[in-house]
Amino acid sequence: MSLRLAGRAAFVTGAGRGIGAAIVKRLMADGAKVAALDLNLADAQASGADLALACNVADSASVAAAVKAAREAFGRLDIAVNNAGVGRAANDGSDEFYGAMAQRNAQLAEQGKSDVIVDQLIHMQDDGWAGVMAVNLNGTFYTCREFARVLADDGNPGTIINVSSTSAQSGEGSAHYCASKAAVIGLTRQLARELAPRKIRVNAIAPGPTNTPVMQGIPDEWIASMEAAIPLGRMADPAEIAASVAFLASDDASYVNGSVLVANGASYYF
Ligand SMILES: NC(=O)c1ccc[n+]([C@@H]2O[C@H](COP(=O)([O-])OP(=O)(O)OC[C@H]3O[C@@H](n4cnc5c(N)ncnc54)[C@H](O)[C@@H]3O)[C@@H](O)[C@H]2O)c1
Repeated sequence: MSLRLAGRAAFVTGAGRGIGAAIVKRLMADGAKVAALDLNLADAQASGADLALACNVADSASVAAAVKAAREAFGRLDIAVNNAGVGRAANDGSDEFYGAMAQRNAQLAEQGKSDVIVDQLIHMQDDGWAGVMAVNLNGTFYTCREFARVLADDGNPGTIINVSSTSAQSGEGSAHYCASKAAVIGLTRQLARELAPRKIRVNAIAPGPTNTPVMQGIPDEWIASMEAAIPLGRMADPAEIAASVAFLASDDASYVNGSVLVANGASYYF
């Protein structure tokens, strides 16, 4: 039996580590040729992809150059995985948020109660908001657009998978992150309709908490309470999210279009 992505060519953004690196590995195991795009070229190279390219998804010229380079290297493109994402940016109120959380936890430990109000929004500056939007939303738009341009020029069908988050629906997390990930779902649904006549399918995946380097900055007690709230009792392994992405990328999902595949161990908070 041939591998289900044999003969296909893909690019994955944010491919240097975490979920993106796991997606590279899985798409390659399923037979695809893969270009790893990341801000950090050394990490992209370490992913083991067929091609590694430095790319800042928040910069449309950088995206256009990387997508063109991947198309030239492989002679075609079939799969785009828009995975690059950030949870915070400079001046977004994170420092005040984490400071207040620490203060609240200390009071709780000492007195069993706390009067500390934990804010982020009121400390969030314009550039802090825009910094997360630039990567998570603008970056997804730029990569979808460049991929669609290449496929339109080549007259080829293809498929896009956008990485959203359970936070889009639950509201758990910061304002810019939740808003950007919800916007990615709106973009996905619209593009699925617009690009369907070109035989380009567009879907999103909404992972729940997943054990990647980004989790390493979070205090252990938060991780423990987060895992306790997940009915499956644990975070996802990046390979589990990658397996869902590979399904959406394959012809097994040929009639799945405009969908959000939720991979969160049933950890809805609403
Ligand atoms: N880890 C989770 O619990 C979780 C849950 C839901 C959704 N997600 C989403 O999954 C995706 C991957 O998350 P992760 O946990 O693997 O993150 P991560 O921080 O471990 O890895 C993100 C990668 O993206 C790259 N990157 C960041 N900004 C970039 C930019 N402007 N251009 C190109 N590359 C850039 C980084 O260099 C890094 O290699 C993100 O979109 C994230 O929001 C993660």
